[in-house]
Amino acid sequence: MKTIAIMNLKGGVAKTVTTVNLAADLAHFHQKRVLVIDADSQANATEFLGGGREGHSLATLLRTPAIERTSFTADFEAHQTISASTVPAVDLLPADDSLMDLDLSKAANGSAWVEVLAEIKAAGSFKDYDFVLIDCPPAFNAAAAAALLAADEVIIPIKLDAFSLRGLANLARQISNMRKINPDLRIAGLLPVMWYESAENTNALATLRESLLHVFPRIRRSTMVDAMTYRQAPLYITSPKSGACHDYKTFAGRIAEGRY
Ligand SMILES: Nc1ncnc2c1ncn2[C@@H]1O[C@H](COP(=O)(O)OP(=O)(O)OP(=O)(O)O)[C@@H](O)[C@H]1O
Ligand SMILES: [Mg+2]
Repeated sequence: MKTIAIMNLKGGVAKTVTTVNLAADLAHFHQKRVLVIDADSQANATEFLGGGREGHSLATLLRTPAIERTSFTADFEAHQTISASTVPAVDLLPADDSLMDLDLSKAANGSAWVEVLAEIKAAGSFKDYDFVLIDCPPAFNAAAAAALLAADEVIIPIKLDAFSLRGLANLARQISNMRKINPDLRIAGLLPVMWYESAENTNALATLRESLLHVFPRIRRSTMVDAMTYRQAPLYITSPKSGACHDYKTFAGRIAEGRY
């Protein structure tokens, strides 16, 4: 079992699109058992994957009163909260908008149980999954901290525009912050997303490759990705011939084999 957080503090960089397609491709093309944890109050992955159980979410887990924070509770609550998604062989631990109230100060003062996902993992409740993928919010809050405490690896989707590249220094800071939370955390690599052929993109990709981090093969921009978000089914179903579908399949192959 490998736990991977899909993280970038920048918004709108395909974290959710990457999480749901990677999950679907790992299940469909590689027969892997996958759990998606939605750690974002926008609950985009939750909605896409069919909702989850009413009244149970990551927010409920994070709000467990201090007196009840045991390995037994973690295991029990995980079973209450995880359910099958609408994508075959992909389960979901959902988010809801009440996650919004759980900022990092709640972690600092102990009112959020940020160790809860790490505790569930340690209790063995994720052992039936080959991959646990965590869709992170574009913010450093209690849910993001919970994700980073539980993750073995982080994948950072990145858009190749000037704003994002200027954000590379910020990204380096993010990574060292992540390591402060979880020293064993490994950065699996940067995933260039929404790629299209242009001199700027080619230069930007070259700049990324000069960084010390691994750079995964790029994911092409495809108009079909927006359509996918309406259809609530992964790219391999909604637009199997699109460039983005092809690229996510290649990416999932790398992740399935651990070849990066
Ligand atoms: N390869 C792609 N080609 C075209 N559009 C894309 C591609 N990947 C993502 N998008 C679009 O970019 C937008 C942002 O994607 P997504 O919601 O996955 O980003 P995010 O990083 O999860 O955002 P947030 O930070 O708000 O959670 C969506 O409208 C999505 O359809
Ligand atoms: Mg998202």
